[in-house]
Amino acid sequence: MTITQAQIEEIIELEYNIHLFKVKSPDIANFINPGEFLNIRISELFVPLLRRPFSVCDVEGDFFFVMFNTMGTGTKLMALKKPGEFLDVMGPLGKGFKYKDDFDRAVIIGGGLGVAPFPFLTKKLKGIKEISTFIGGRTKSDVITYGLENIFISTDDGSYGFKGNVIQLLEKDFGKIQNEKLKIFACGPTPMLIGVKEFAEKNNIGCELSTECVMACGFGICQGCPIQSTKDEDKYLLVCKDGPVFNSEDVVL
Ligand SMILES: Cc1cc2nc3c(=O)[nH]c(=O)nc-3n(C[C@H](O)[C@H](O)[C@H](O)COP(=O)(O)OP(=O)(O)OC[C@H]3O[C@@H](n4cnc5c(N)ncnc54)[C@H](O)[C@@H]3O)c2cc1C
Ligand code: FES
Repeated sequence: MTITQAQIEEIIELEYNIHLFKVKSPDIANFINPGEFLNIRISELFVPLLRRPFSVCDVEGDFFFVMFNTMGTGTKLMALKKPGEFLDVMGPLGKGFKYKDDFDRAVIIGGGLGVAPFPFLTKKLKGIKEISTFIGGRTKSDVITYGLENIFISTDDGSYGFKGNVIQLLEKDFGKIQNEKLKIFACGPTPMLIGVKEFAEKNNIGCELSTECVMACGFGICQGCPIQSTKDEDKYLLVCKDGPVFNSEDVVL
């Protein structure tokens, strides 16, 4: 893990006000894995005081990419940055996806901005494993397809793709792939992750979930990001250190 001043090379505005920063840092780009994250200090001032965690969205040579939308104080300030400015970045942090496991097809499931870690995972899997990507959103503007492959789309209001949630879409199309050796990789809002976990357990499919919570230190010191272990109801794991990616059978959501 390193803390570095990394220069913004390019800012790409994706559809629907989603920002993609291309940032130069060989120290991070050459060592980070899909599902791991970065803790970014957005301002030199005291607001926001805490760093903000972001998934690594993609890597190209010495550059890494971060995808975000404006939610609150930190991301609104991030959105004002210009190419040439620097970000104070801590990373790589956490445990990412085990994408080298024994399976034939990756079933990638993303809800809203939960697709953020999947362009990098897709890049690692492409040409090695089959990929089916299921994306869900409330409405068309929540659907982000950047860097993904073989995509199936659902929206709650039916404004784009299948009308319903992403689990219903997966249930509908599951017959076409259910005889293959599958592994699920999911990231998105907790209700979606609960649905994915139930689906994976019901169908006996290996499944990893990238979880989210508000973080402080980002590397296991403050104990501020607990998630309950399934092994023992008194045992808590830390999202920043033991995750953010967990085997779905290991955590209570
Ligand atoms: C491991 C990890 C990876 C992440 N990757 C990305 C990413 O790639 N792109 C991205 O845009 N965001 C990502 N996030 C979430 C990101 O850190 C939050 O969007 C960010 O903290 C919001 O900061 P803010 O200062 O803009 O909002 P704040 O002003 O801090 O908060 C605005 C609102 O958002 C809520 N909020 C803050 N953080 C979270 C959170 N983590 N989950 C749910 N609600 C939250 C607050 O409770 C508040 O209601 C990730 C979070 C984690 C833990
Ligand atoms: S954020 Fe500090 S221990 Fe996880």
